[in-house]
Amino acid sequence: MRIDILTIFPDMFSGFLSDSIVKRAQEKGKAEIVLHNIRDFSTDKFKRVDDYSYGHGAGMVMKAEPVARWIEHLQSERDYDEIIFMSPDGKVFQQNIANHLSTMENIILLCGHYKGVDERIREKYITMELSIGDYVLSGGELAAAVVTDAIVRLLPGVLGNESSALTDSFQNGLLSAPVYTRPYEWRGMKVPDILLSGNEKLIDEWNAEQALRRTRERRPDLLD
Ligand code: ADE
Repeated sequence: MRIDILTIFPDMFSGFLSDSIVKRAQEKGKAEIVLHNIRDFSTDKFKRVDDYSYGHGAGMVMKAEPVARWIEHLQSERDYDEIIFMSPDGKVFQQNIANHLSTMENIILLCGHYKGVDERIREKYITMELSIGDYVLSGGELAAAVVTDAIVRLLPGVLGNESSALTDSFQNGLLSAPVYTRPYEWRGMKVPDILLSGNEKLIDEWNAEQALRRTRERRPDLLD
């Protein structure tokens, strides 16, 4: 899968792309994540990509032309399944959307800044708008990183079996059961004996019960 990220701050992604699962996915050829600096297509001699907003709104707005040029340039090279604008007024990103996006071949993530992007970009090119929660970030970059991470770890062959994405919280609509590792007894606290019983059926039942209990206690809304 290929993810093209349009941003005015490509450096914000450097640590994120060069570590952990996202790095491994790229090395294995499962994901190609390509950063593009929107400024490169600025038509302004000072490379400005923002301008005053029309009307009485305070704050700057991302100009349409540099973004449009990037999108059209990318579209001239391949077809995109979705062109996604990261924005607090988008649909709230959840696991089912990550699952859906992980089946795509090519997507674009556009990171907004300032007061947002000229509305005509949203009308003309954007096929989906995503928010990562009801709070305002200073730009869409962190949100794009969140979405990229959630998608990439789902791509076949990225996680080993030992950490399969299928057992993650939310994959079955529930939070995960508690997990333990060695030692069996730590500072007087023991691992539940059932997990050492070797009885797979009982262990599965215990995990299911715990997942349900935890969801009921912490996120009853998920059970509605
Ligand atoms: N840009 C600013 N805030 C955001 C949010 N909550 N989600 C996605 N993009 C954003």
